[in-house]
Amino acid sequence: MNRGGITTTGGIFTALVLITGILLTGYAGMNAIDAVFGFHMYLMAAAAILGLLALLMGRPYRDDPGKYNYGVVKAFVIATLFWGVAGFSVGDYIAWELAFPFLNWDLPWTNFGRLRPLHTSAVIFAFGGNILLGSSFYVVQRTNHTRLAGNVAPWFVFWGYNLFILLAGTGYLLGVTQSREYAEPEWYVDIWLTLVWVTYLLVFMGTLMKRRVSHIYVANWFYLAFIITIAVLHLVNNMAVPVSFLGSKSYSLQAGVQDAMTQWWYGHNAVGFFLTAAFLAMMYYFVPKRAERPVYSYRLSIIHFWSLIFLYMWAGPHHLHYTALPDWTQSLGMTFSIILWMPSWGGMINGLMTLSGAWDKLRTDPVLRMLVVSIAFYGMSTFEGPMMAIKAVNALSHYTDWTVGHVHSGAMGWVGMVSFGVIYCLVPWLWGKERLYSMALVSWHFWLSTVGILLYITSMWVSGILQGLMWRAYDSLGFLEYSFVETVEAMHPFYVIRAIGGLFFVIGSLIMVFNVIMTIRVAPREESYSNAVLAPAE
Ligand code: HEM
Ligand code: HEM
Repeated sequence: MNRGGITTTGGIFTALVLITGILLTGYAGMNAIDAVFGFHMYLMAAAAILGLLALLMGRPYRDDPGKYNYGVVKAFVIATLFWGVAGFSVGDYIAWELAFPFLNWDLPWTNFGRLRPLHTSAVIFAFGGNILLGSSFYVVQRTNHTRLAGNVAPWFVFWGYNLFILLAGTGYLLGVTQSREYAEPEWYVDIWLTLVWVTYLLVFMGTLMKRRVSHIYVANWFYLAFIITIAVLHLVNNMAVPVSFLGSKSYSLQAGVQDAMTQWWYGHNAVGFFLTAAFLAMMYYFVPKRAERPVYSYRLSIIHFWSLIFLYMWAGPHHLHYTALPDWTQSLGMTFSIILWMPSWGGMINGLMTLSGAWDKLRTDPVLRMLVVSIAFYGMSTFEGPMMAIKAVNALSHYTDWTVGHVHSGAMGWVGMVSFGVIYCLVPWLWGKERLYSMALVSWHFWLSTVGILLYITSMWVSGILQGLMWRAYDSLGFLEYSFVETVEAMHPFYVIRAIGGLFFVIGSLIMVFNVIMTIRVAPREESYSNAVLAPAE
């Protein structure tokens, strides 16, 4: 076992970078002009000190260099579980806040305005991001028959990425935000993420370059598109001028409608490449593995890849219908969104048809059931999205809960369920267990989540359409039929139903955490429910 420490060139280089980091962040912390910036600088300094100590003790080298690097993948899986429960719980809490506003408690930290971005970032970047980074490190090693490139670098990606989440989340709670949806962290956190992301790209590319098979399996294509596109989106969307290099506040380089277009070019492609392309990569690896069938059509997967990445880029303006954005741009966004339906469904069909000849497994394997249901939700939200992009439909749906329903059929149904399926596949494989602790608990999780999602999205469809119709209702004299507060009151029952659905989802995720802990800690127990044979009466 190589305990290396800082005896390698990479180790010495990392140590020097960390020492520089400690000095810089320490100085910035001492001279900060606002308290949150100071707090964040000290947090970064503490992280760098811990990193240096770990390096001196040789921690990153503990894995056997002759084998796949599973250590870092395990860490990502555990972080996914932690952030998943946290993010879903905050989501459910804000759902209750919308139903019962007194739950805001009149405190800045528990206010809906601060908790909402905490929820969105926790579920998308913390839960989703950790499973994406972790699964990509697993898949790229397995499909290319080689160990992950670098020793310290993959661990830097893990700790660096999770530090980014901590900085973002604590920033929102303490009131620091640059107010760009899904890109709320301020300039210094953005710079930190850029460093982490470039390292991630280098580790992934480095692993591909030392592959021991000539072909690059399609899942890697999707992961690579995700990594490169997110880098470009992040850089362009976050171009800003800080008021001071010792404070958190910054101003965007762009203004007016150009700024809005940049934000939604980013926002939509974050959906396309973070919440879609990379999760499709997971689908292309884990569904065939679990079903023990080859991908239905490899040719279709290539067409799916190129058409999807080309079309997503142009669809962003559908978020800005009926705004100051030039009309032709809105129509362009609408047209590309409608065309986008085709590759999305091509991918869905490819995923579902991979089960040809193995459909019977759905009866016995709740993990496969989760993966398949996620693909069905993917199909549903990618039909709903193009429909909502049609300007006449968007005139009704925009600003209403219908959008929130659409978001969650994609986010909970597709992103959530496919991630759960992947976690259930990965845990026994990584920890060398024959199977999960309890398949019955997976079934419980499956049903709780499915019912939770259905309660969520159906209540949002009804409340969204009701909201839209009430807003545009006129009386015979041309006055608005309803005041705004009447439309808010009408939402109450649906908000309660949504919050109950969310609770089901949270309980399901807690069951998953229990099952994973037990799988790791104890030997699998005998299942009796599936093989039960009734004893004849004597
Ligand atoms: C327990 C499960 C969940 C609950 C109860 C929940 C609840 C909520 C609530 C109440 C909002 C605010 C809606 C509004 O502003 O009117 C919201 C927004 C959002 N949530 Fe969730 N959520 C859950 C899971 C998820 C998951 C798993 C994801 C993504 C992977 C997600 C992504 C989002 C996004 C992107 C938004 C912003 C939507 C928009 O701006 O239209 N949520 N969620
Ligand atoms: C063909 C695919 C899709 C198209 C064309 C599409 C289209 C749309 C449209 C038209 C909106 C409403 C914009 C508005 O009125 O403000 C929207 C919102 C949204 N969609 Fe989709 N969608 C697609 C797939 C998905 C998927 C699979 C997910 C999640 C995994 C998703 C996540 C979101 C989010 C988070 C928003 C809310 C953005 C916000 O206002 O904060 N979409 N989408």
